[in-house]
Amino acid sequence: MVIDRLKAVVNLDYLVENYQALKRLNQGKDIYAVVKADAYGHGAIECSLHLEKNGCKHFAVTILKEAIELRNAGLKSEILIFGKTDPLNAIYLYDYDLVQTVYSYEYACELNRLGKKIKVHLNIDTGMSRLGFLCQRDKDILPVVEEIEKISKLENIEICGIYSHFTSADSDLNFTYEQKRLFNLLLKELKIRQINYGKVHLDNSAGVITLEDGDYDLARCGIAMYGYPPVKSEEAFLPVMSLFAKVISIREIEAGASVSYGRTFVAKSKMTIATIAIGYADGYMRILSNNDFVYYQGYELPVVGRICMELTMLNVTGVSIKEGDEVEVFGRNKLLEPMAKRALTITYELLTNLAKPRVDKIYIKK
Ligand SMILES: Cc1ncc(COP(=O)(O)O)c(C=O)c1O
Repeated sequence: MVIDRLKAVVNLDYLVENYQALKRLNQGKDIYAVVKADAYGHGAIECSLHLEKNGCKHFAVTILKEAIELRNAGLKSEILIFGKTDPLNAIYLYDYDLVQTVYSYEYACELNRLGKKIKVHLNIDTGMSRLGFLCQRDKDILPVVEEIEKISKLENIEICGIYSHFTSADSDLNFTYEQKRLFNLLLKELKIRQINYGKVHLDNSAGVITLEDGDYDLARCGIAMYGYPPVKSEEAFLPVMSLFAKVISIREIEAGASVSYGRTFVAKSKMTIATIAIGYADGYMRILSNNDFVYYQGYELPVVGRICMELTMLNVTGVSIKEGDEVEVFGRNKLLEPMAKRALTITYELLTNLAKPRVDKIYIKK
């Protein structure tokens, strides 16, 4: 079938190059390829299988369904689930050989009841206040050690790893070091009590790039692997995906004519308007109305009027463009970071919203 609206071109070789750059920064240690949310919109199955072929042995997702999809697609490597799997679904963790995050003794007990060995990683909350054993002050450490000690005695729970998550490794080094200090203190106490905690991981993309220390067994990276390092790096990261929208109509309008809902744009003179097949239902945020552009053969074509649910209008006056042509919504020629700034958001949100499963994806290698 011909692609009639939106096309995302995903360069799998760039993905591998970014992954290798992160490994270099992590002192050669492997990273979990974070492929949750359909690999930040890039297509989890295709990206994971290609990364595995190129040496990656660790993958992380948020939900059980994502993990099962990867296994069913043939991924052999370790898959860690960050989120909570309902204990009623524990059998799938066992059957698909998945690693479940655990963050309370009670949850570990519920998984233990399955009666079959479940592999787990322990999540430690050193500052996110999101998930994890609460460990934000020195006095939290001993109670957490005690909880973990109880878990280590559960017959069917195998502790294979322990991790925490940085809140602001891109912006607040003092707090980052404080999180690291608490995490290390906890590890030290666990060691003293001879509690085996398996593999250790802490850094995300920002942590790997900023700290460059490779202090732990692994890191967990998403955004930089897709080409968007949250902080400056000596390594060159290449944007993996470009998104193209089709021009589906062109018209000439006269001075005084308005464009789109609410008439927020009124032509000052005669102009040419192109309508492209993308809108806020495709993640092209309405806040970008009259406040973004797309790229076409050296031109930056401004968005005019309000972005509609599935259509957007461009000022293409004086540009040789026709119905059926494709414009770049983001990619190598139209960068995502400044677009995210204009949309008052972050690259993560744009990527996961703009490359929804209904966008056709084309996978290329260099
Ligand atoms: C627990 C956890 N680890 C690692 C990551 C990867 O972070 P980043 O995409 O900033 O590298 C995420 C993503 O949000 C996460 O939730």
